[in-house]
Amino acid sequence: MTSGRRISAPRGTRDVLPAEHAVRRRILDVAAAVFAESAYGQITTPTFEDTEVFARGVGASTDIVRKEMYTFEDLGGRSLTLRPEGTAAVARAYVEHGMHKLPQPVKLWYSAPMFRHEAPQSGRYREHWQIGAEAIGSEDPLLDAEAIAVLAEIYRRLEVPEVRLRIGSMGDDESREPYRALLLDFLEARRAELPAEAAERMAENPLRLFDHKDPGVAAVMAQAPLLADHLGGAAQDHQGRVLEALDALGVAYELDPRLVRGLDYYTHTVFEFTCDRLGAQSGIGGGGRYDRLVAELGGPDAPGVGFGSGVERITLALDESAAGADVDCYVAVPDQALRAELLPFVTDLRRSGLRVETDLRGRSMKAMMRHAASIGARWVVIVGPQEHQEGIATVRDMESGEQRPVPLAEVAGELR
Ligand code: HAM
Repeated sequence: MTSGRRISAPRGTRDVLPAEHAVRRRILDVAAAVFAESAYGQITTPTFEDTEVFARGVGASTDIVRKEMYTFEDLGGRSLTLRPEGTAAVARAYVEHGMHKLPQPVKLWYSAPMFRHEAPQSGRYREHWQIGAEAIGSEDPLLDAEAIAVLAEIYRRLEVPEVRLRIGSMGDDESREPYRALLLDFLEARRAELPAEAAERMAENPLRLFDHKDPGVAAVMAQAPLLADHLGGAAQDHQGRVLEALDALGVAYELDPRLVRGLDYYTHTVFEFTCDRLGAQSGIGGGGRYDRLVAELGGPDAPGVGFGSGVERITLALDESAAGADVDCYVAVPDQALRAELLPFVTDLRRSGLRVETDLRGRSMKAMMRHAASIGARWVVIVGPQEHQEGIATVRDMESGEQRPVPLAEVAGELR
């Protein structure tokens, strides 16, 4: 056999091992229960889409579209992109399946991997999982509040510590167009202080400069006029009604006039949950309203609101060590010839609902006891040749160390 070069998982990706999966399963179970209680149905869209879905949906001026997408040409010459986020994909599905004909709003949730070519660090990966939800077909501010409350409830039930919620507004066209002109005037006057790349981007979407990483740009933007101070009546009213509903629901929040999200489709409500435990990548979940996205993807006028939350970030915030043992019972057969004969007994225990492991490596009795202890088995069921003949097993309680004989046919019932 030739020995090969070791191959690692691609940079920025990671393997999810069994102990972490125990935590992940709990997160998904809680999320699925909360979504179902609020009448969200589950949707799964393909892992890749026509590139246009994201280029048009997420917006050409965003970091995601400009430099983070995994885009490739397939053998048929089509441009495809691994899904960097879920909202545009769900909006595409809403249009494709004529969901505007269903009772509105249509409420959908998903759990899916997302792909972004970002600089990897703790909590920031090139493939991450999101649980997310989209409610499409209503402009009622109560829907924004419900979506926010659903995500808050998921964190509450999981007992995610130190979670805070910030809320802002992207306004509507009526507020944003005059504001955009105002911001452009401000930026034109400061053009000399901006790096060339930022000055270029400014024409495309000046609001994007609010989340620019460059400290020089940040210093300029600290003095820029804020959209929050230029919201029109309708936008103010929308925000007021969302906040009132959150107050009624007992969801705590801070208003943040500088909240910018990395996606261009937002209108009115934007929000972000942060967790102080997470360090630099403190955004644990975020979302907002997108009243034009569906129309931009060729659909009817269907306003929506939704959120996404990173499963890895929730896991990091929970900081749970390996959950309880994965094994109830270890069957130890200290006789090589008997091992195969007792496999049906092992199968019967498993079918009874117990989680059962046995030796599959030809260990000595002493090594089997060590193996059972190291995988956290609660009981060891020992069946030697003598016991086998008599139709009994010795059941050892690994916590108390007590041992007692139990007829083979009764072991499953006893342990359960
Ligand atoms: P987003 O803020 O880009 O929003 O991502 C949502 C969440 O995904 C973040 O709060 C974070 O927890 C997690 N996340 C994002 N990027 C990474 C990464 N590179 N590594 C690990 N976790 C990450 C959206 O994607 C929108 N589609 C949310 C939405 C739904 N808005 C309306 N509906």
